[in-house]
Amino acid sequence: MSEKKYKVGYTCGVFDLFHVGHLNLLERCKNMCEYLVVGVCDDKYVTDIKHKTPIFTEEQRVRILNALKVVDKAELVSIEETEDKMLALQRFRFDVLFSGDDWKGSERYLRTEQQFAEYGAHIEYLPYTNGISTTQLKNEMKNN
Ligand code: CTP
Repeated sequence: MSEKKYKVGYTCGVFDLFHVGHLNLLERCKNMCEYLVVGVCDDKYVTDIKHKTPIFTEEQRVRILNALKVVDKAELVSIEETEDKMLALQRFRFDVLFSGDDWKGSERYLRTEQQFAEYGAHIEYLPYTNGISTTQLKNEMKNN
């Protein structure tokens, strides 16, 4: 018998230079769902939207995520699927989207919550791990 709150969960991100902040997030997601799908933002999203240069290519980032026992499936997602979570919902048919709690209450996410409600999908907001990020790691490496 299942003890998890949701069946299929989904989260997405760049996950460059995979670190323990990423791991904390994915472990929290997997604790709440049976099957965790991770959308990995493609290189075009990183360069064109985040205006950053990926250190690990999109293929490498997908491979690393697929090798983790807390991840059931990782696949590349486009800019459109990253920005419009309804497209991700249509593609992956998840019951819950996990997002960072910095998005809670924002206009964009309130709208997404309403759109999701029609399909019985939920959003769970999870805490960000302070003190570590890909940007911070890049800066530390530059300074060493
Ligand atoms: N994340 C987290 N805690 C961290 C870093 C990331 O919970 N310390 C989460 C983000 O909220 C997101 C996912 O991990 O849901 C992927 O984040 P990503 O943007 O790839 O990681 P960052 O390390 O924050 O990258 P950057 O510094 O380039 O923004």
